[in-house]
Amino acid sequence: MNQQINIFGFAGSLRIGSYNRALIKAAAELVPNGAQLEIFELDGIPPFNQDLESSPPDKVKEFKRKIKAADAILIVTPEYNYSVPGVLKNAIDWGSRPFGDNSFEGKPVAIMSASTGMLGGARAQYHLRQSLIFLNMYAVNKPEVFVTFAPQKFDDKENLSDQKTKEVIKELLNNLVFWTRKLKTT
Ligand SMILES: Cc1cc2nc3c(=O)[nH]c(=O)nc-3n(C[C@H](O)[C@H](O)[C@H](O)COP(=O)(O)O)c2cc1C
Repeated sequence: MNQQINIFGFAGSLRIGSYNRALIKAAAELVPNGAQLEIFELDGIPPFNQDLESSPPDKVKEFKRKIKAADAILIVTPEYNYSVPGVLKNAIDWGSRPFGDNSFEGKPVAIMSASTGMLGGARAQYHLRQSLIFLNMYAVNKPEVFVTFAPQKFDDKENLSDQKTKEVIKELLNNLVFWTRKLKTT
């Protein structure tokens, strides 16, 4: 019997009506049997201050505890100025510190992005992948989920309505769960 896989996910937008938050909510409905996705809101995580990294604010303690407890991570990012938003990078920086207490260490991770533009956040994903190397995470390579022209893919209640996007998210989550199980047995 396969063990339950707990995925912990967060999106790098605080905006009401965010397509990326809508995307991670859609993903929660598309996880394969035997897995579940808990979504964490980054709202309330203060700007990183290295003076506080050994005794961080409660919200950061909770964030780090939940990352450590998770079997796998899902990160959903907007693209801001060809990179990831500061809100997301800031949360990742807190989660990775202090030195020797990187909460993300050795975790499998999948990433997705949604953008109003024609590249769907691709440039932000490649910047994010660079950080995942330093975090020593195992990033799922394929499929790459770039939700282009996001307003066309969600209905007016922020539900993902595009069937092809649902299929590619399912495939990504299946791969995340597959590789998470593989890594657990090595
Ligand atoms: C500060 C800022 C920078 C942006 N830069 C980019 C960009 O580089 N590439 C892109 O495709 N969209 C860019 N956008 C548009 C975002 O894709 C769009 O606002 C998207 O809806 C943000 O994600 P959200 O809906 O999850 O908040 C930018 C938006 C903001 C606010």
